[in-house]
Amino acid sequence: MQDRSRDPSGPVLGIETSCDETAAAILDADGRILAEAVLSQLAEHASFGGVVPEIAARAHLAHLPEMVGSVLREAGLRWSDLAAVAASAGPGLIGGLIVGSGFAKGAALARGLPFVAVNHLEAHALTARLPGLLGDAAPASVAFPYLLLLISGGHCQCVAVEGVGRYHRLGGTVDDAVGEAFDKAAKLLGLPWPGGPALERLAAAGDPARYPLPRPMLGRAGCDFSFSGLKTALAQRVAAFPPGALPRDEAADLAASFQAAVVAVLADRLSHALAAFAARHPALPAGRRLAVAAGGVAANGAIRAALADVAQAAGFTLAVPPVRLCTDNAVMVAWAGIERLRLGLADPLETAPRPRWPLETLSGAGGPGGSPPEAA
Ligand code: KG4
Ligand code: ZN
Repeated sequence: MQDRSRDPSGPVLGIETSCDETAAAILDADGRILAEAVLSQLAEHASFGGVVPEIAARAHLAHLPEMVGSVLREAGLRWSDLAAVAASAGPGLIGGLIVGSGFAKGAALARGLPFVAVNHLEAHALTARLPGLLGDAAPASVAFPYLLLLISGGHCQCVAVEGVGRYHRLGGTVDDAVGEAFDKAAKLLGLPWPGGPALERLAAAGDPARYPLPRPMLGRAGCDFSFSGLKTALAQRVAAFPPGALPRDEAADLAASFQAAVVAVLADRLSHALAAFAARHPALPAGRRLAVAAGGVAANGAIRAALADVAQAAGFTLAVPPVRLCTDNAVMVAWAGIERLRLGLADPLETAPRPRWPLETLSGAGGPGGSPPEAA
């Protein structure tokens, strides 16, 4: 039952628990961040070399209620001040999704608030529209359509973002996500999990031209990705050394060579995606051509630089939200909730979390600033 007297333009609570980050945030109706908190479960999973779903779900359950209380306090708000609760309801690890969306539904029911079941990928996709987020790097307000390159540990895809709930997938990985490839490569090189940042640091000391590793899909039509062959090639190079005896300088050269291969592949795939996006939206004025990179891998300096060059060459501006909003967080979930609520798109409390939930299956609208694709 919903409290009709409540101010529908009040603040929105967002909750994120789809993987190994427990996060809560409160945004006002204009998207101003009133409070945010993220707890990464690195310590819980590190000894296993990856995320253990059951441990993740238990950790969300242990930390989420207290975290929501603390963001409410930080924002100086009570439950009765909120206008809605939004939570990631998929895709992701089902245990965590049940914890976060279940908590949100319970709160919505108890407080008579609307509930928004947020698609985690849509949350990543809409983050760039947070007012003022991209500063001088992008138009003051990011209008639809734009190209999203989502590169994280769980996702790797190119998407034309055409409105709230309106996504056209241009391509994606046929095997590993790019962050997953970084993590597996780092493990082969004896680096700790999560491997991406450690591999980037090691690569800085190595020679990227030393090992000619494969560049899967390079030059191939379309915008798909593949990383498993690159990982196998790296494994074979590592296997040439006696077990446990990979010298540090060799490891650095392998890391640099691996990263160079990933950079080349991502740059090539982005250039194809930009061409596909431009063909889909031929009437988009030059100054409005925007590409957004998101996900933990967008934190990689060499990758950011290469993507910016490719975008510029194609007449696009590349915008990358700050790293804390590129990686999993609840600000993006609350913002996606706000975007949906503005269109009257709240969800029934019966909505079940979904471990798989492709963006293309969402419903929505063009929204304010939205525009239909010029070509189908
Ligand atoms: O977006 P994210 O926090 O979580 C999801 O996977 O959804 O991304 C984490 C991924 C991990 O695979 C991590 O190794 C990778 O992003 N990553 C990096 C860097 N920082 C994080 N990969 C390459 N270079 C980095 N600097
Ligand atoms: Zn994510």
